[in-house]
Amino acid sequence: MIDAGSIVKEMQDMREEGHLSDALLRHAVRSVHKAEPKFDWVGVYMLGEGGDELWLHNYVGVGTEHAKIPVGQGICGTAVAEAANQNVPDVTASGNYLLCDPLVKSEMVVLIRAGDEIFGQFDLDSREAAAFTDDDEAALSSIADKLAEQLAHERR
Ligand code: SME
Repeated sequence: MIDAGSIVKEMQDMREEGHLSDALLRHAVRSVHKAEPKFDWVGVYMLGEGGDELWLHNYVGVGTEHAKIPVGQGICGTAVAEAANQNVPDVTASGNYLLCDPLVKSEMVVLIRAGDEIFGQFDLDSREAAAFTDDDEAALSSIADKLAEQLAHERR
């Protein structure tokens, strides 16, 4: 289980100590990866300056060739194009999937956003089919909200 309450509190403490979004994003990725063995790959992509490409910020898991993903491509790019989180129980059934680890069976993408403004996303891969639950999505969303708070603050 992702203990979102503890992770959000740790991130708030970090903010109060003066840590910037970079540190919070790394802390969030490491904490979520540790939460469940079924989370084989956990990373964050941030929307690039032009708003048309996702850039890999940091991750835990096997190396990936997808350091940049155009909006609209793959499950990650679809999340931005549709402004909607994605829960794909079987990646082989998806017509728009960018392969990273051939053993991955399911994927979840949760956006980091403040209202209509999308900053980036969590991307999680699992070697188990249908690994991701509504509770996972809710937990990731609350962590994403805390990150968005800091990202919006830094943008001002
Ligand atoms: N599978 C993703 C690409 C990123 S890797 O999983 C790290 C996608 O279809 O967008």
